[in-house]
Amino acid sequence: MKFWKRRGPVPELGHSIRDYQALVRLKLKAMPHERALALAQSIGAPTLEDFMAQGDGHVAVLRHHGLENGMAIYDLGCGCGRTAQALQRSGWQGHYTGADVVPELLAEIARTCPDYRTVLNYERTISANDESLDIVFHWSLFTHLFPGESYLYLLDAYRALKPGGKMIFSFLELEDRAHDHVWQAGLRKLRNGERPEQLDAFLHRDWITRFARDAGFSTARFTNGDDDAHHPPFWQSLAILAKG
Ligand SMILES: C[S@@+](CC[C@H](N)C(=O)[O-])C[C@H]1O[C@@H](n2cnc3c(N)ncnc32)[C@H](O)[C@@H]1O
Repeated sequence: MKFWKRRGPVPELGHSIRDYQALVRLKLKAMPHERALALAQSIGAPTLEDFMAQGDGHVAVLRHHGLENGMAIYDLGCGCGRTAQALQRSGWQGHYTGADVVPELLAEIARTCPDYRTVLNYERTISANDESLDIVFHWSLFTHLFPGESYLYLLDAYRALKPGGKMIFSFLELEDRAHDHVWQAGLRKLRNGERPEQLDAFLHRDWITRFARDAGFSTARFTNGDDDAHHPPFWQSLAILAKG
């Protein structure tokens, strides 16, 4: 099956697409002369220094889990290029595709990383041919989607990965006390009748294991985000799924 063949009606823009487009446009309007900072803040980095340090951390995670030069990698929900810019800074050589649902974020990657490919994709699919990618990764994306949406992405990532390829992603879990502040903030908003900026979603390792098994992945491994200090700590948990 080719990824671009759509069947059925054109889907509605989903909740996370509407919410992120609104958030990015609000930030840009509030800070018209600080575009890079407005975009960084809309994906959760308070300062440009944080944005760069976090991106360097992302690259260290990817290298620890097998990133090499020459690979074809896919950054799902890539934002404005926190990881892309860090990959470029690190001197990594390979084929990068960043996919997102907000045109303004993708435009920033096109501006800062002109050799990288960007894709605007509103469907829960991976815009790549079958068995064409070495790594599909995403940070803080399943944290904003319903479990069914995450599963659809996982299923299509399996299709697009080469045999031996990996899907690497971060997620929030209730069992980890370090993630509790997100849970508590959500409860506070519910109690106060406030509308959250976006959905904050938690997953369980058992659910991810089931998703991975149903999709066909041979293994699903998890870390609390620091991989025994092999890279700077990632504040969310990490899942590493392998296509056998
Ligand atoms: C918290 S930000 C993380 C950005 C990037 N992964 C990073 O760590 O720098 C979440 C990103 O997911 C994107 N997003 C939201 N809904 C999405 C969807 N349904 N499919 C793909 N990306 C989505 C947002 O536009 C945003 O760029």
